[in-house]
Amino acid sequence: MTPKTYSTYHQRGAEGTLYLADAIDFLKKIRKSTAGVVFLDPPFNIGKDYGNGKTEDRRPHKHYISWLEEVIGESVRILKPGGALYLYHLPSFATQLTGLLNELLQFRHWIAVCMKNTFVRGRRLYPAHYALLYYTKGDPLHFSRPKLSPVKCRRCNSYIKDYGGYRRIIEEKGINLSDVWDDLSPVRHNKRKSRPANELPMELLERVVAISGCANELFVDPFMGGGNGVLAAVGADMRFAACDIVEECCRLVSERIEHLIEEHRRQAWQTQMPIPKEDSLSIS
Ligand SMILES: C[S@@+](CC[C@H](N)C(=O)[O-])C[C@H]1O[C@@H](n2cnc3c(N)ncnc32)[C@H](O)[C@@H]1O
Repeated sequence: MTPKTYSTYHQRGAEGTLYLADAIDFLKKIRKSTAGVVFLDPPFNIGKDYGNGKTEDRRPHKHYISWLEEVIGESVRILKPGGALYLYHLPSFATQLTGLLNELLQFRHWIAVCMKNTFVRGRRLYPAHYALLYYTKGDPLHFSRPKLSPVKCRRCNSYIKDYGGYRRIIEEKGINLSDVWDDLSPVRHNKRKSRPANELPMELLERVVAISGCANELFVDPFMGGGNGVLAAVGADMRFAACDIVEECCRLVSERIEHLIEEHRRQAWQTQMPIPKEDSLSIS
């Protein structure tokens, strides 16, 4: 099916297009070697109803994997040399996709995004992370290593870890981000979500963009959901192309972008306001 353009933005503060479309149709529409970052957070095939019926998210396992492989194939096609691909999934699925990814791209990291409050199933260990696979098309075009502030105890305000002789350096420069992200919760409380269905925390997307993004590069998100990926990209002055199969997501994300543009305008207007001369302020 031809992807339907939902909304387009060409202004300072947001440049890109949202599509109401199936992910593969959408990816096929994008020209090859154009994307700086592709972020994939697909449905997990666990029977979730994203608004398009539970059966859509419960296909036979083989079909689901080959569908994901097609999504990956198209994503690799649109990546520019050095561009980055991120795939967020359960470890059991991620491991089935690494064969293809290792063939097509350069492995960078298996990032463990820690989660709490899960359940032990069968004869297994307690599952405590999601996998965020990070690959690049050859050597990375852009790479930055974000720094984190050392964590302090909420009660006594002292550092939770002992940094020994490195304490001053850490205070000055921060801690290098590792491949275990245990400081953000992938399962979020309803109060902090912009929609009822799954939504990744903004901090996770901002981190991805901070590592691999760059102003004016293209950020592509074929499963945009509530749009945190798009908003993180806009925040880093990246262009975006994103889609979702559910119209409600497109409506929500376009509202969020409009709001952001309005915010930019307001700030620009405030900074351009002439500062009154001192004597014009005097009463006498
Ligand atoms: C796991 S959620 C992504 C959540 C998103 N990363 C966020 O932070 O809000 C998967 C999204 O994919 C959408 N989706 C499901 N099947 C799709 C398809 N075939 N093509 C495009 N989008 C699809 C769902 O509507 C849902 O919003």
